[in-house]
Amino acid sequence: MSGHNASGNAGPKGTRLVVSSLHDKDLPEAARIVRLAFGTFLGAPDPDTFWADRDYVYGRQPASHVASFGATLDGRLVGSNFATSWGSVGFFGPLTVHPDLQEQGIARALLAKSMEQFDTWGMRHVGLFTFAQSAKHIALYQKYGFYARFLTAIMSAKATRQRPRDGRASAR
Ligand SMILES: CC(C)(COP(=O)(O)OP(=O)(O)OC[C@H]1O[C@@H](n2cnc3c(N)ncnc32)[C@H](O)[C@@H]1OP(=O)(O)O)[C@@H](O)C(=O)NCCC(=O)NCCS
Repeated sequence: MSGHNASGNAGPKGTRLVVSSLHDKDLPEAARIVRLAFGTFLGAPDPDTFWADRDYVYGRQPASHVASFGATLDGRLVGSNFATSWGSVGFFGPLTVHPDLQEQGIARALLAKSMEQFDTWGMRHVGLFTFAQSAKHIALYQKYGFYARFLTAIMSAKATRQRPRDGRASAR
């Protein structure tokens, strides 16, 4: 996993792209970008409020086994990633970049920094969850040595109230 340069780089259109530890002051914006990025990718009608009931940022930030990274363009937060240590096994995500600034190497800069962290921790195995139908995601992660192994379909169905045979509604 070595060999990925994550230091400050020239960003898009002459901006300066820096990846460093995520600051507490940037957590609200990091959480907003997570919602916006996934909401946009998944086609939510209002990406800004997508996943408003989920926390992918605040709980990870203070955890001692998690390294949080933020990407800034000229000082403005534009993306983040969270590397997690499970002993000798590493995991990362959510990785997100503001939808207006994708396809400009920001995720790659965040991934490079995350790979450095896994090297520092001495991880023997690292993995992630991603969208198997997205050529972009697969190609992006392959650049860092990750290859698809097990295809796990995550399925859902609407919860419906169960009615017992005597016609009374059940609490379940
Ligand atoms: C996935 C995500 C983080 C990528 O961020 P990004 O800043 O656009 O990614 P980058 O520009 O750094 O890298 C994308 C790479 O994929 C390549 N790529 C894009 N589309 C591709 C395609 N269809 N086929 C092959 N490669 C593709 C790009 O060329 C680029 O590589 P290059 O810089 O070597 O040319 C961003 O799209 C996002 O936030 N998506 C919504 C949330 C999400 O899905 N997060 C990841 C969950 S696992």
